[in-house]
Amino acid sequence: MSRSHFLFNIDTIVDSRGSLSIIEDKSDLPFDIKRIYYLHNISSHESRGGHGHKNLEQIFIPMHGSFNIEIFDGKDSFEYILSNKMEGLYVGKRLWRNLYNFSVDAVCLVLASEKYDEKDYWRNYKDYINEVKK
Ligand code: TYD
Repeated sequence: MSRSHFLFNIDTIVDSRGSLSIIEDKSDLPFDIKRIYYLHNISSHESRGGHGHKNLEQIFIPMHGSFNIEIFDGKDSFEYILSNKMEGLYVGKRLWRNLYNFSVDAVCLVLASEKYDEKDYWRNYKDYINEVKK
């Protein structure tokens, strides 16, 4: 398993009233959270992502429903199916990602290590490949 992207268990307290899942600062995360956003109302025919990030680290959590995430590191690609609310996918720096196959009503929560910065993106696949192969 590559350490630049991996699934991890989210601590969850289960009792007769339901489940409570917890992520708490650096004891659970490899970065401080600077931004939270979520994807929702996504058509099953649509994909998201389709870009790389230079410095950003993220955690993807399926709050509802399921979706696939393909991670590409410039050499190999890895496929994850996210459907477990008690599991997060860590995605590190310099990786290309595609999110697709969203179920109806899927909600994807993203915890991010940096504020939004368009300059942190590789929007063009060839630019990404040229850069990570250096
Ligand atoms: P983008 O990151 O390309 O979305 P996705 O990876 O889900 O396909 O962002 C889509 C648009 O939203 C783009 O115009 C940038 C803007 N945006 C922000 O303004 N702030 C944010 O925190 C994010 C994630 C995107």
